[in-house]
Amino acid sequence: VALARQRTGVLMAPRPIVIDCDPGHDDAVALLLAVGSPEVDLLAVTTTFGNCAVEDATRNALQILTLAGATGVPVASGAAGGIDGKSTLGNYVHGTSGLDGPPMPAPASEVVPAGAVELLRRTIQASAEPVTVVATGPITNVARLLLEHPEVKDGIAEVIFMGGSTERGNHTPTAEFNTYADPEALDVVLRSGLVVRMVGLNLTHQALATPEVVERMRAMDHVVGQTCAAWMGFFGASYNRLWEFEAPPVHDPCTVAALIDPDLIQWRECFVAVELAGTWTRGTTVVDLHHRYPDEKPNAHVAMTLDAERYWDLVLDAVDRI
Ligand code: RIB
Ligand code: CA
Repeated sequence: VALARQRTGVLMAPRPIVIDCDPGHDDAVALLLAVGSPEVDLLAVTTTFGNCAVEDATRNALQILTLAGATGVPVASGAAGGIDGKSTLGNYVHGTSGLDGPPMPAPASEVVPAGAVELLRRTIQASAEPVTVVATGPITNVARLLLEHPEVKDGIAEVIFMGGSTERGNHTPTAEFNTYADPEALDVVLRSGLVVRMVGLNLTHQALATPEVVERMRAMDHVVGQTCAAWMGFFGASYNRLWEFEAPPVHDPCTVAALIDPDLIQWRECFVAVELAGTWTRGTTVVDLHHRYPDEKPNAHVAMTLDAERYWDLVLDAVDRI
């Protein structure tokens, strides 16, 4: 097993991970971070509807891994809609393709014949070490895996997901997009008994791709850095148009970054519920930061503060290393 030199200089085996995603500009950067970081071993990628239709997310994932020179990572296509059968899409943010902006290479690999749930199941079962499940889109595939194959729980170290918020939402005033797109799925994960880490908008809005960050991408003399800078251009324009951000919050890499540098984020363990029935609030995460529900046991570690400078050093180092 290739020993990865952690940032502390201590030689440790890379952490085995799978990423379930809906690429998506920020999912794309999360995939590059994983490929470019020796601290994690990306065993598989599965795709879901979300930022775009699952067919587009799957093509985008294959193209991103081709760009990253990681065509050996198996990719499987997953959910076209949520457990409720609805397919809420985020093309209004990420464009018609789901990854609008710079041209992308034609995929140099193809999806595996198995679907996402089967690839997740067999990858987890085959791993000698418990696998960390990273979810950066609607968490439908992970929920289906837990419902259809509960035996895999023993092989899962934790689930770390980008979704929800301790504060306002984005897709609706109170609900964050991933959670809004499949709240029943997040409810399954929160009730699973697994170690669950929630990286919500309250955290990811600290991960802004400022002009200085984008300039560091643009200064890289290779296509990966240039592509990242162009992604930030498109993503940033969407965020400015829709939510008046001066710089786009690059949500999804915060999950992978937390696995690479455990001190990057400060966490708080508490009870988290997801609203399933609210007329105006469906998909809202109710995060009990101050234990106002004394009968509800904590079921998640909630990300609260990010060391943004270290985050961007981590992300940009990985992008430059690919
Ligand atoms: O709300 C932000 C999240 O929704 C991110 O994961 C983004 O990629 C979209 O999936
Ligand atoms: Ca995403």
